[in-house]
Amino acid sequence: MSALMVYYSLEGNTDYIAKEIASRCGADLVRLIPKKGYATGKASKYVWNGFCITFHMKPKLVNEKIPVDRYDTIIIGTPVWSSDCAPPLLTFSSEYQIKNKNIYFVICHAGGGGTKTMLKMERYLDGNIIKGKVEFRDPLKGMDKEVEQKLKEFCKAITEQKTYNM
Ligand SMILES: Cc1cc2nc3c(=O)[nH]c(=O)nc-3n(C[C@H](O)[C@H](O)[C@H](O)COP(=O)(O)O)c2cc1C
Repeated sequence: MSALMVYYSLEGNTDYIAKEIASRCGADLVRLIPKKGYATGKASKYVWNGFCITFHMKPKLVNEKIPVDRYDTIIIGTPVWSSDCAPPLLTFSSEYQIKNKNIYFVICHAGGGGTKTMLKMERYLDGNIIKGKVEFRDPLKGMDKEVEQKLKEFCKAITEQKTYNM
């Protein structure tokens, strides 16, 4: 298996999970970095960032070209933004022609919108084999045992190339 973990994170939750998955699965790790950062203020992060995803605004990324062809498995991580993935993932899925890959989705949220987000991501990554999906509720806030259990099972599925459903 050759795996890539690609993700975006604004406040560190997806970053934490993505790093754990990459190290446990021996996957290469790429964090998507938008050229213009997103708002982090208490209200502005919901208003402005929410606007960006509602209108499907695709940000420019500063990342070097990602050699997606090298990988048979791509694990995609995102926070949930207004029941959708964060905009850098829209850029990623439209800039790269990702087809016939084994795809695993990882999302972090604050309690809702996971199912809708997964359905939208399946659409963005149409033409691939969706092997697994997992969601975490603000993992940096605790619930260590539950997070650890999910990470363990999810990473086992990836390394064995098995399906996993949350
Ligand atoms: C613009 C915006 C919209 C959000 N929308 C949702 C949502 O629809 N449902 C939800 O449960 N959490 C929502 N959240 C919360 C984040 O998904 C959640 O805190 C996640 O763990 C953050 O991941 P990160 O630390 O990797 O950025 C939203 C956060 C932001 C900034």
